[in-house]
Amino acid sequence: MESLSTKHLLGIKQLNPNDINLIFETADNFKEVINRPIKKVPSLRDITIANLFFENSTRTKLSFELAEKRLSADVINFSASASSVTKGETLIDTVNNILAMKVDMVVMRHPNPGAGIFLSKHINANIINAGDGAHEHPTQALLDAYSIREKLGGVNGKNILIVGDILHSRVALSNIYCLQKLGAKVKVCGPPTLIPKYIKSLGVDVSYKLDEALAWCDIAMMLRIQLERQNGGEFDVKYFPTLREYSNMYGLNMQRLNKLKKNIVIMHPGPINRGVEISSEVADSSNSIILNQVENGVAIRMAVLYLLASTPSFSN
Ligand code: CP
Repeated sequence: MESLSTKHLLGIKQLNPNDINLIFETADNFKEVINRPIKKVPSLRDITIANLFFENSTRTKLSFELAEKRLSADVINFSASASSVTKGETLIDTVNNILAMKVDMVVMRHPNPGAGIFLSKHINANIINAGDGAHEHPTQALLDAYSIREKLGGVNGKNILIVGDILHSRVALSNIYCLQKLGAKVKVCGPPTLIPKYIKSLGVDVSYKLDEALAWCDIAMMLRIQLERQNGGEFDVKYFPTLREYSNMYGLNMQRLNKLKKNIVIMHPGPINRGVEISSEVADSSNSIILNQVENGVAIRMAVLYLLASTPSFSN
């Protein structure tokens, strides 16, 4: 059986195109399974998985839990806000205590970039990064690329535009790595204050004009303005004057779409701020594959869990 080149899924940066294609082919099989009347397979029976969420989530948390249950794994869920982290327990102590209960795999979302990488140096279980600060969100990028492949037949050669708060977005970084590894051309668009200086070094083009960028793309991936990562702290920085102005310049609405002389595919990782980065009309239109992305998240996460549990190092 083919296996991944890695024991952990810490980021897309560490994957090669063969890994990504293997995940997609495995997800194809699981997608077929979850559309059957009996949606459960015994693949991860006797494997225990801990879902550790140090930051809020709807889609990723529920999707991982469902994927684990569909694979017949035993699942425990941990929410930092309702745990002894609030009493000062460290990340390593928290995870080591959970692993002492004979846990095999850890799915972790954490507000600090690199938290999964740090953990992988200190524990033996397989780790899946479910989003680490503004760093990476690998399963989101995998389900996004998988959804593009499903909708357009492939990713290679496609022009893909990522719009919005690139600076604070782990989804943007993971997607840039993933889409480029699969042969797509990637452009980012947003206000200059929300486009990081290093982005061109990743081989990505930059546009500050949404209408021009939309005319170039086959797919527009709209991102949320991450106010929770922008405000507070020592410096309370304003990246743009008002949400209304942001929406006027960088929000996707029907008026903008109708000006294009072609159909483009609309994506969004969620959660959506309707009326800010995307209008309700566009989000709910026939061009939108937003709910397909969510649906595909379960099959992709089943594939990742199954393949990591099958890596030769798992039983060492
Ligand atoms: N796309 C995504 O990561 O959504 P959640 O924060 O709800 O998991």
